[in-house]
Amino acid sequence: MAQLWGGRFTKETDELVYRFNASISFDQRLCEQDIRGSIAHATMLAEQKVLTQEEKTAIVEGLEGIREDVRSGKLEISEKFEDIHSFVEATLTERIGEPGKKLHTGRSRNDQVALDMKLYVQDEILFLDELLKELLQVLLRIMEENLDTYMPGFTHLQKAQPVTLAHHMGAYFEMFKRDRGRLHDIYQRMNTCPLGSGALAGTTYPLDRAYTAKLLSFESATLNSMDSVSDRDYLIELLSALSTVMMHLSRFCEEIIIWNSNEYQFVEIDDAYSTGSSIMPQKKNPDIAELVRGKTGRVYGALMGFLTTMKGLPLAYNKDMQEDKELAFDAIDTVKDCLTLFTGMMDTMAFRKDAMEKSAKNGFTNATDAADYLVNHGVAFRDAHGIVGQLVLYCIEKGISLDEMSLEEYRKISPVFEEEIYQAISMETCVKRRMTLGAPGEDAMRAVIELCRKYLEEK
Ligand code: ARG
Repeated sequence: MAQLWGGRFTKETDELVYRFNASISFDQRLCEQDIRGSIAHATMLAEQKVLTQEEKTAIVEGLEGIREDVRSGKLEISEKFEDIHSFVEATLTERIGEPGKKLHTGRSRNDQVALDMKLYVQDEILFLDELLKELLQVLLRIMEENLDTYMPGFTHLQKAQPVTLAHHMGAYFEMFKRDRGRLHDIYQRMNTCPLGSGALAGTTYPLDRAYTAKLLSFESATLNSMDSVSDRDYLIELLSALSTVMMHLSRFCEEIIIWNSNEYQFVEIDDAYSTGSSIMPQKKNPDIAELVRGKTGRVYGALMGFLTTMKGLPLAYNKDMQEDKELAFDAIDTVKDCLTLFTGMMDTMAFRKDAMEKSAKNGFTNATDAADYLVNHGVAFRDAHGIVGQLVLYCIEKGISLDEMSLEEYRKISPVFEEEIYQAISMETCVKRRMTLGAPGEDAMRAVIELCRKYLEEK
């Protein structure tokens, strides 16, 4: 009986096991890094006389040929192999013969994959940093152009005090600046080369690990071979930093969506970055902002997923770690797309300055300044607070803003008011007087913008 289906069953199971175990479908992304690492390894082996110069030359030229052929599409990465490391080595041996078989001397796939992933992440960090910098450049331009674009500043999503669009953008400038700092820190901390750690316990060949590290532009070689092959901290740090970038983008998108709503109309998203409805002809939806907000979940998911994968793993390498790739690749791709699209959307967005200023006035964001006016004319703050409360109530009943009240109306509530009250509660005055460092007043903002500009020139 068993014979009738046994053979077939075993075969299918084998295929499933093979597919489940293989990583080539996704780690083929590491092809360039794998070749870079192998060239450095072979160069070092020749320097240490483990390989002859001829063998090294054959290996390096062979690897360069593979790299070129993969780039040009002449050589297809075959999914017949278990992973990218096997593919590169097998192709090399097929092309150059005997010397190809010596490349893996003093190396394991464990330190090889640890290296490839680090090289990949370092490249991506530099790219992500560029994207963040481009976003900061757009924000700085909007800041420079909107020093006197008055708008309500909010707490509890209730209009609070007047600020400017420059100031609001400046808040996000600080957030994305910190994001760049975090990426920079991660790069520095992960800047050690694991190659030469072998499977877990180093190797008996006389490797010069410092030389390999130098060839690959690392600051130094790692100091513990077991840690080297099982350290994925830098990926967790990266996923955490990327989650923070997404959190910032998501908050920003939420504001754009609110500002773009029919009720606010503070901004108009460019046609290129909005979409219509198949049924409601009047619609122009902020889909890109919503999608960026939505994709935040999957980047957080990658962080949670991979933290959970790593939890409880004994030293040193375990196959669980192969799970790092799809999660990290997806999170990196997602953040790159989100940053690119978000920057384009901001760069082409129109700001409705009138609507912003009108909203600031209608929300009594200058009420604190009206109270300050009374205090400056000898009224105790507690009394001033009560008087302005009456003014606001009066305005709400009449459906007007503070600057639309006549002087007689003001004086009926308090005789202390004079003609200068209008000047004192104008948006311009309210903002201008906020001149502490970091405040929206024009002079304070100009000083900060100068620092932002310098920062972008230097970093
Ligand atoms: N595909 C593996 C990974 O991504 C490469 C390392 C394999 N090592 C091993 N001992 N099977 O982790």
